Order: sequence, then C-alpha cells, then structure tokens
Amino acid sequence: PKLLCVVGARPNFMKIAPLMAAFRSGPQPLTATLVHTGQHYDAAMKTAFFDQLGIPEPDIDLGVGSGSHSQQTAEIMRRFEPVLEAEAPDAVLVVGDVNSTIACALVAAKQGVPVIHVEAGLRSYDRGMPEEINRVLTDQLSELLFLTEAGARDNLRREGIADERIHFVGNVMIDTLLGHLSRAVPAEQTLERAGGMGFLQDGRGFGVLTLHRPSNVDEPVVLRRLLGVIRELSTRTPIVFPMHPRTRARARDMGLMELLETPDILTLEPLGYLELLGLMSRARLVLTDSGGLQEETTALGVPCITLRENTERPITVSQGTNTIVGTDVARIRAVVEETLATGGKRGRVPELWDGKAAQRIKQIILDWHDRREAARAV
Ligand code: UD1
Repeated sequence: PKLLCVVGARPNFMKIAPLMAAFRSGPQPLTATLVHTGQHYDAAMKTAFFDQLGIPEPDIDLGVGSGSHSQQTAEIMRRFEPVLEAEAPDAVLVVGDVNSTIACALVAAKQGVPVIHVEAGLRSYDRGMPEEINRVLTDQLSELLFLTEAGARDNLRREGIADERIHFVGNVMIDTLLGHLSRAVPAEQTLERAGGMGFLQDGRGFGVLTLHRPSNVDEPVVLRRLLGVIRELSTRTPIVFPMHPRTRARARDMGLMELLETPDILTLEPLGYLELLGLMSRARLVLTDSGGLQEETTALGVPCITLRENTERPITVSQGTNTIVGTDVARIRAVVEETLATGGKRGRVPELWDGKAAQRIKQIILDWHDRREAARAV
C-alpha cells in the first residue's frame, strides 16, 4: 500500500519518526511519502527534531507557517488538496491533535481517501482547548484508529465509532523515547552550555518547566500567577525553563520576563529532543502543560506536575507519575513541596508502552489493505 504521512508541529515529529522507520524497513515495506505542512518551521521547533530523530526529509513541504486557527487550517487544506490528488495514496496517516492533523484528515475524507489516526480516542472533555476539537473531528473522519491507552476505546464508543476500526497498539512516542534514551544528551552538558552548571553541583538538583498552552500563556493574570509561583519555588529547587516561542513572546509583551530573572531560573530557547530527554531523566520533577511530557515522564518514572485542569491522557495519572494541579498557587506549592520531600509519585509503565507500537501499526495497516484488496477483487 501507499501511504501519505502528515506531520506539522513539534509533537508530531516524535510520533512519526518510528512509523517512518517501520514503514520503510523490513521484508514487506509500505510506500510511505512524508508531507510536512510547515506549521512549525523554526530550526529549534523543526529541524533539530528531524536531525536528531533521523526522520527522512519531507518529500513535500507545504510551507504554511503561522496564522490564526482558521487561517492556518484553511491554508493547510488548500495546499494539501492538490498534493493528495497528485499522489493518490491508499490512505492518509495523521498523528496527534494539532491543526495539521485535522486539516489533512478533512481533505482526505472529502476526497474519499481513508484516514488513519495514530493517537486516537484521547479526550480532555474540555472544548476550550483547540486540540480537543481536532481530536474529536479527526476521529470521526478516520477509518483506522490507533490507541495509546485501552480506556480511550470507551470515549470512541460513546461517539458512535465502530469497534472494529479501533486498535489498541501502545504509544509511538514511547517507541521514540526508548529508542533514543541511550543517546540522550547528558544534563551536565546542556546545563554547562547554558550556564546552569551550579544546579548540579550544590546538590539541590533541578526541576524542568515547559509552558505553551494558550489557556496558560495568553491570559496575563494566569501567566503572571504561574511565573510568580515558579519564581518562589525556584528557591526550593532551581528550575530549567526551555521557552516555546509563543510563551516567550507573550511574557515579553506582558512585561513578565523580569519574574524569570533570578539565578535559580535558567531560561533557554526550545531544546532539541535529546537535550530535553537528558534533562528530564535527571530532573527531580517536571512542571508542564504539555501532553507529550506527561507521557514521557511516566515512561521515565519522573514525577510530573501538570499545570492544567484536566488531561486527555488519564493513564499517566491512574498508573503513571502524573499529578494534575491546575493553576492554583496553593495547590502547585503543596504538590511541589511534597514531591521534593518524598521523591514524588511513583508509578508503573502502562501496557504496551514497550517500544513496539509502530511495528504493530504497520502490521494492522498491511492486513487492512489486504482485506480491502480482497473485497475489491470479489
Ligand atoms: C501547536 C499545537 C499544540 C502543540 C504545540 C507544540 C495546534 C492547535 N497547536 O501549538 O497542540 O502542543 O504546537 O509546540 O496545532 N512559532 C514560531 N516558530 C515556529 C512555530 C510557531 O515562532 O516554528 C510561533 C508563532 O508566533 C506562532 C506561535 O508560535 O504564531 C504559535 O504557533 P502554532 O503552530 O499556531 O501553535 P503552537 O502554540 O505552537
């Protein structure tokens, strides 16, 4: 079969890497063409990941760039349509929940090309989150839905999606994590380069912070509150803060960068995958509003404190190291203090987060294609 595989934004890259590797290897290769929409385009947001994760150069780059949600989604659709027509694949494979995911899924579905969704069925039940809309709609459009956690099947059943389309296969992002752990850049190296070597020398260890959700960084009251409590807690353990471009721009516009000016907070440009992996695996705790980091910390066994009111990845709470704290200062303070005092929440690695998800997906796609061909031949 011939697949058109789509990526657009940073969290897509660690998901597509093991899939491209699986598709392009083995005795029965699939033909997999890679399309990058261009949603993320900076060297730090894109190129570093392609290089470090060994993702093949995109065969097609739509060069879309930033814009409002509607502009970005519409522009991706407009540019993807002729590509889809020219390539005429057996299916379009999309990953995750970003605007590129829904845009390309919608174009494919309208052209009658089957959509395959990797990381389907996750729900935060918070429609205020742009990704939630992308998740619900992409799943409705998909012919094959691949789950990272078994409980997601219930979400899809509730939305009327036929059971035989749904396959629990594990987590491709954890395929990437396990495959790259031995090559992670040591925390010493990243900290030394950034001038934060003292963090490791004085025995206080360090925490890692990432923030980029619009609900946290676009609202001045919320961002001020979060950065304020981070500054306070940095006296308990220093904080390393690689800043998403959006977050840096907002903090600057709101005049909040000075809250971060203390020797106990190290602000950095966005890090490469191997740098962040090295930092996270040595951290005493991770504070984040990212989806991916909630899962990666669970796989690493590092305590994760999630600065959101909900999660679409509940297994990281029920089985993993994740605690949802929202943006309430007292609650954040309490959970950070407890984590520092006790070493934090311990968990176990969820079922099928074993590094083999991409291989399972490949096999299911091959079987699905065989069945379709057989049905067509009758
Ligand atoms: C997107 C995803 C989000 C994901 C996040 C990870 C959607 C709806 N959101 O959010 O789910 O968690 O990526 O990073 O798809 N920018 C740059 N350089 C870049 C890309 C973006 O400077 O390479 C800046 C631009 O100012 C842009 C802003 O970041 O306007 C937002 O980019 P956008 O792709 O719209 O959304 P993210 O916030 O990155």
